[in-house]
Amino acid sequence: MARFRIAVLGGDGIGPEVVGEAVKVLEAVAATALEHVFELTEDKVGGAAIDAYGTAIRKETIALARRSDAVLFGAVGGPKWDDPKAAVRPEQAILGLRAALGTFANLRPARMQPALVHLSPLKPEIVQGADVLFIRELVAGTYFARPKKYWQDARGQWRAVDTTAYTESQVERTVRMAFELARGRRKRLHVADKQNVMATSRLWRDVASRVAAEFTDVEFQPILTDALAMHLLYRPLEFDVIVTDNLFGDLLTDEAAVLAGSMGLMPSASLGEARNRHSGYRGLYEPIHGTAPDIAGRGVANPIAAIQSMALLLRYSLGLQREATAVERAVDDAIELGLRTPDIARAGEKTARTSEVGDAIAAAVTRELGGAASSVSRSSDAG
Ligand code: IPM
Ligand code: MG
Repeated sequence: MARFRIAVLGGDGIGPEVVGEAVKVLEAVAATALEHVFELTEDKVGGAAIDAYGTAIRKETIALARRSDAVLFGAVGGPKWDDPKAAVRPEQAILGLRAALGTFANLRPARMQPALVHLSPLKPEIVQGADVLFIRELVAGTYFARPKKYWQDARGQWRAVDTTAYTESQVERTVRMAFELARGRRKRLHVADKQNVMATSRLWRDVASRVAAEFTDVEFQPILTDALAMHLLYRPLEFDVIVTDNLFGDLLTDEAAVLAGSMGLMPSASLGEARNRHSGYRGLYEPIHGTAPDIAGRGVANPIAAIQSMALLLRYSLGLQREATAVERAVDDAIELGLRTPDIARAGEKTARTSEVGDAIAAAVTRELGGAASSVSRSSDAG
């Protein structure tokens, strides 16, 4: 019997709603996997934690994440905590967790579901069949390197500096993970950089080219990030796996949501070197759509990215491949059957509520895996 410990951090806006649906799907999985026990512990992060505790993430929450086998995360932020100069900001929760867990590789798959091709602003013949996996470096580069400051000099002029810095090993571990993932897919890897301008990019290209020699079965191609931003929309089918640094990856993966049709369909997995007790990755899983404060609490948010993130959690952290695939199939079926939240529905089509989509996917998982009683225990670390 395996005992899986999962930290559930819903956060703000639609975060808790979509994470709730992912938990529903996990409960369906648990009901069919009676040899396993799933222990879920919930806590507040982001704006919710600022309101309750005055900090975006408590030390106890970081400790909870560290002793968990995996973390399921919703989203953080919102108009209430919007001041970018405030000392305490919701984003500190996610940035702090990424750093604390050392999850250097952020996997962001973008796949065009055949039934959703109408969602894309791109022509069907261009986007149909698009299936791209981004690997974004997540714990170094422009987001974390020092100095990073905003100050007034002696003459009273405001100045600001961010630093982009990488070491060979930071690049190598990320690129290596990308090559390995490319091996399990269509065996094509692009590294996106700005080597015509940036020294860090020359390091990325050099390290990637060196590692490529060990992966002769993978077709390797460096590409300039600006050119990639264009080619991704003109010729998405040419791309399989794309590895890039933290900042470029942030920008390109929002663009890649166009290939999936909606931000509500973009899951992510953040993996590091650390293994959990089940020899899976100790990972952090989050939908990339953010908190969508305009639709929060109305029951219309799309839970699919969170549910797909749960599937990635089952695969990469818990080693439950069959269950992960069952969840992904159930998601595809729900979309095919027309159970769609407003963001992915056709004009005039009847739309489904967040919880209806979660219920349907959970039921499909049960059908797919077969089973009865549940073995999920829940507790709360808050308060
Ligand atoms: C993302 C988000 C975050 C990032 C924000 C919330 C700090 O945009 O996960 O892509 O920039 O990494
Ligand atoms: Mg982003």
